[in-house]
Amino acid sequence: MKILVTGAAGFIGFHLADRLVREGHNVVALDNLNDYYAVSLKQARVEQLSGVPFHRIDISDLASLETLFTRERFTHVVNLAAQAGVRHSVDHPHEYGHSNLTGFLNLLDVCKRHDVEHLLYASSSSVYGRQKTLPFRETDPVDQPASIYAATKRANEMMAYSYADLHRLPSTGMRFFTVYGPWGRPDMAPCLFAASLLRGDPIELFNHGRMARDFTYIDDVIECIVRLLPLPPKPAPTPNLERRAPHEIYNLGRGKPIALLDFVDTLEKRLGTTAIRHFKQMQPGDVEQTWADTHKLRSLIHYTPQVTLEQGIDHFVTWLLEYRRLVLEAMTA
Ligand SMILES: NC(=O)c1ccc[n+]([C@@H]2O[C@H](COP(=O)([O-])OP(=O)(O)OC[C@H]3O[C@@H](n4cnc5c(N)ncnc54)[C@H](O)[C@@H]3O)[C@@H](O)[C@H]2O)c1
Repeated sequence: MKILVTGAAGFIGFHLADRLVREGHNVVALDNLNDYYAVSLKQARVEQLSGVPFHRIDISDLASLETLFTRERFTHVVNLAAQAGVRHSVDHPHEYGHSNLTGFLNLLDVCKRHDVEHLLYASSSSVYGRQKTLPFRETDPVDQPASIYAATKRANEMMAYSYADLHRLPSTGMRFFTVYGPWGRPDMAPCLFAASLLRGDPIELFNHGRMARDFTYIDDVIECIVRLLPLPPKPAPTPNLERRAPHEIYNLGRGKPIALLDFVDTLEKRLGTTAIRHFKQMQPGDVEQTWADTHKLRSLIHYTPQVTLEQGIDHFVTWLLEYRRLVLEAMTA
């Protein structure tokens, strides 16, 4: 396999590129290093990726992608480059059009023209919107996104399907559920809470703390991606079936929702401090609960996430304390 990881300066992309290169794979990293959050944190991640060629390219730049694909001849592409963040999307919708729609379309097109064997791409649990039926299954209706971010993620799934159907480009959409761990994102609750706890600042708990997330530890997410890589969906499982698009979607979560307040309690215990809790209204675009049904993925890759909340928070805090200065500076940038 010759693997392109896009968004490799980001949280999940960095961990994936790191794991792949450690296992001796031929990996190339791409990111535009945008300033949605501190570029210093993205650069620090890239610096850890010694031995991985890095290209500063924006996926909305089709000509640069074309040049890279012509030269490198990738067999596998994992697209983790995107404008992330539900709340940010409420006031900055165009950033999502740029990276998640135009950029993703460009990637589909170069993957098609260069006969990529398998494109994996990040989708999100947010496609389930405010659905009340739990846990979320891949077969559930997903036509009422609660934010423009979620709408672009659902659009990605449909765009990938159409390329699989029309052009036979095998692709797999991964619906991630609140990933956390070392080198995590400063705009997400684990980093926001931990930084406030370290500084003695109050933490904001939206919907008066009545929230639950299917928090999934980063190593478990990476294990699932690594197992999915060599398994491109097949055009038709049996000779008698009708022509079928080689496209699949999987929930990629732990399958056990955790109340936000329990997450805070566990973080407090590990840090040995007590949070000042500010209870707030629900934020626009947000949802109360996420919970992944993981049967479909488990039956394919035979892996169940292993890391408990206590273990995950322990690893996260160990990293946070080691890189305290970098993280706290990133949080104020
Ligand atoms: N972290 C989670 O809990 C979570 C949950 C659901 C879905 N996702 C999705 O997973 C993917 C990775 O998420 P993450 O948490 O690592 O986010 P991240 O923001 O840390 O990483 C994304 C990276 O993509 C890069 N990028 C953005 N637009 C780009 C463009 N136009 N061209 C090139 N690079 C670009 C950014 O600079 C960033 O480094 C995203 O698609 C995100 O929406 C993440």
